[in-house]
Amino acid sequence: MARTARYTAVAILLHWLIAALILALFVSGLWMTRAIEDPAQRLAAFQTYQTHKAIGLSVLALSLLRLAWRLLHPPPPLPEGTSAFTRIAAATVHWALYGVMIGAPVAGFVMVSASPLGIPTTWFDLFAVPHLPLGPDAALEAQAKAVHRALAWGGIALVALHVLAALKHEFLDDQRLLLRMLPAGREGGAGPA
Ligand code: HEM
Repeated sequence: MARTARYTAVAILLHWLIAALILALFVSGLWMTRAIEDPAQRLAAFQTYQTHKAIGLSVLALSLLRLAWRLLHPPPPLPEGTSAFTRIAAATVHWALYGVMIGAPVAGFVMVSASPLGIPTTWFDLFAVPHLPLGPDAALEAQAKAVHRALAWGGIALVALHVLAALKHEFLDDQRLLLRMLPAGREGGAGPA
């Protein structure tokens, strides 16, 4: 009869894998768009664009998988007494994160598909990823770039909010919610303090 208060192992694995990949996307995205302007760093920046595209497409595939998993396996309930504001705020941030995890890579893929440069995309040099039949279309590329940037920056803000909220509940409210998303966490969440 013991009811687990933790996320499933698949949800936990996907959460941390996607989190690590998104961190790599933030860092690589911000670096490469600046480094490409510097002739001394242009080659490394170009290679980083290729890696960024491959990681971004992986995040898209993993996020779709995660969304499907989430719809089939509802998360464990929040502790009783969680205020309506906290419930709504958490749900809003979580669904907005799904929006970024799916919207940002789609916009990125539209951007490179429409680009007049026509630079091919591969998955870590292992196989070619066919572009969408959208280009060359410089106007569409520019629009997709603006959306990609807006979603990426929105994503940075959302991740910051998400992490701060998780740390607040963990350490200021002592709710031990982080255990629900950790592989080695204790069952049941709140044991004796
Ligand atoms: C969750 C997935 C993704 C995240 C979080 C992300 C994040 C970022 C960030 C932070 C930047 C820098 C934006 C700036 O300088 O203001 C960027 C740029 C870029 N990303 Fe992504 N990215 C993702 C997926 C993708 C995918 C799937 C592709 C293509 C297949 C892609 C292609 C690009 C390109 C070409 C740029 C350079 C755009 C420019 O010149 O301004 N990204 N990305």
